Amino acid sequence: MERALMENDQHKPVEFHNLLNPAMSRRQIIKTGGTVSAAGFLAGTSALSQAVSQATTLMSFPAVPTSTADTVVLPEGYEYDVLVSWGDPILKGASKFDVENSAEDQLGQYGDNTDGMSLFHLTDKDGGVDEDRAILAANSEYINKKFMHTHGGENLTADDVRKEIAAHGVNVFEVKRNWFNKWKVVKNSDLNRRLHGNADEFVLTGPVAGHPLVQTDMDRTGTKVIGTLNNCGNGQTPWGTYLTCEENFNGYFGAPAGTAFSDEQKAYGLSETGFDYNWWPTEERFNLAKHPNEANRFGWIVEIDPYNPSSKAMKRTAMGRFKHENAALTLSKDGHAVAYMGDDERGEFIYKFISRDTYREGDRAHNMTLLENGTLYAAKFNDNGSGEWVELTYGKNGLTQANGFDSQEYILVYARLAARFVGATTMDRPEWVACHPSSPMVFCTLTNNKYRGVRDNQPLNAANPREENPFGHIIRWVPENRDHKASRFGWDLFAMAGNPETQSGAMAGSDNVSADNMFNSPDGLMFDNDGRLWIQTDGNYSNEGIFAGQGNNQMLVADPVSGHIRRFMVGPNGCEITGITFSNDQRTVFVGIQHPSNAWPNAEKDGVPRSSVIAIRREDGGIVGA
Ligand code: FEO
Ligand code: CA
Ligand code: CA
Repeated sequence: MERALMENDQHKPVEFHNLLNPAMSRRQIIKTGGTVSAAGFLAGTSALSQAVSQATTLMSFPAVPTSTADTVVLPEGYEYDVLVSWGDPILKGASKFDVENSAEDQLGQYGDNTDGMSLFHLTDKDGGVDEDRAILAANSEYINKKFMHTHGGENLTADDVRKEIAAHGVNVFEVKRNWFNKWKVVKNSDLNRRLHGNADEFVLTGPVAGHPLVQTDMDRTGTKVIGTLNNCGNGQTPWGTYLTCEENFNGYFGAPAGTAFSDEQKAYGLSETGFDYNWWPTEERFNLAKHPNEANRFGWIVEIDPYNPSSKAMKRTAMGRFKHENAALTLSKDGHAVAYMGDDERGEFIYKFISRDTYREGDRAHNMTLLENGTLYAAKFNDNGSGEWVELTYGKNGLTQANGFDSQEYILVYARLAARFVGATTMDRPEWVACHPSSPMVFCTLTNNKYRGVRDNQPLNAANPREENPFGHIIRWVPENRDHKASRFGWDLFAMAGNPETQSGAMAGSDNVSADNMFNSPDGLMFDNDGRLWIQTDGNYSNEGIFAGQGNNQMLVADPVSGHIRRFMVGPNGCEITGITFSNDQRTVFVGIQHPSNAWPNAEKDGVPRSSVIAIRREDGGIVGA
């Protein structure tokens, strides 16, 4: 047995390989070597200096080449069909898609810009898993204004604004697999619902509920929120609920010229124009000059019970307010719910939430309260490969009145300020986090950062080691004692994306990146039940300059231990690939194609390209990715 890890010595580096599960512990892990400028920061992780050295047994599909074609490219032996697209009816009596659909039409239809999603199987007549019936909960993150209106998005009418708001949010609907192994939407199911941006179905829960910071003229209780917005990635809890994560909520708010903004508002990017949605002149709650606290009611993780269409959606304030990408849920050894979360902005942070109470097998009502109370932490990645979770609790780590933090509610609403104050590590845009299904490894995509080393608040550090980082990277960590409740962890860099064809040195990428699998801007990330790591990209698809040869956005599969990465899919023109979930038998993977720009899937027929969820399966019915 090799030396125990994470001994009680704050400065002792972590031997990452020993933290993996015993079956994996002696296998060699990927090299990050030449790309890491802080030489020696992984001094204690000598196993990491071994290159990808052994075959992977996790995947046998033939890799696909890059592509610039306006189509979905899959390995030989795989096929797909489109399950649902923006504007498809999902509620009873809803209208068919037409570019001239009204706000009222959109309320019954699948929203725009599909993103994170989770599949929830129904039970069969014996109470077991019905392999062929399920509920899909899927996010609609934002909208493509130029395709949403026949006039291209200028001079919005009040109905146009309502249509845009209705195209945001969450889509919950039943899906069924037929004898031909194809999944179809069950359009008239009683389970189907749309939780859109104007839906009166959201409740603030946890410490911030009712606090003056979330009270508005429309809601003096500070608990009843209208809508969810910018629903980016997702989470799926062990007790069968869906988490939708509110990301760039600031973009929807605006104010008349000359409006003053507080430091707190600026820290969340609130401004006079937002992202030019221009909702605030007609939908007054988005006017920050009149209703500044309305913005404090967005930027949360929202828990939805997909099995109960009349249930309210719960905004979980204990998990902190920031630009949430996704939430990777797991349990600690003693049953606390643990959520790992990224805040997608340059120079922001990675967070962890640990529930106060513990999971009780079979007690769903109790488990559905777990995310209401708990402790929030922000990650500090030390240069020597160790790391720590710094608690964001009032009265601790200097989070006191004297330092401007006057309550726990303030800390949760302005979690970014607290994380920065305690010295958490600024990251290159944290996107998705994923937990390995059977070992305590956690991975996170850091998509890219054009301000690295350029702006003061974007310092170089060992976890974000490239002076310029247009390609992004993937970091991973393992908690002390293999327990997600631990306050310490060991970390290393799993992959530095790059372009070995056109670049050299650090910009070529790590040794597990080659001309055959190169990509940029890793974003979506998920493990399947066999431990394959699925990586989705949202990057530069110009296929030019430093991105020459990388083609359209893509999805790859990685072996988290050997470090092998293989391209599984390439998307159509202009899209990003985002959102992934599997059928229980792993014979289907559902994947989101967001904002295709050209003719996909059938612009000739529909008048515009449409974001869609596709269902991918093997022609022989086998496990996808194997
Ligand atoms: Fe919604 Fe950071 O992607
Ligand atoms: Ca994303
Ligand atoms: Ca992204």
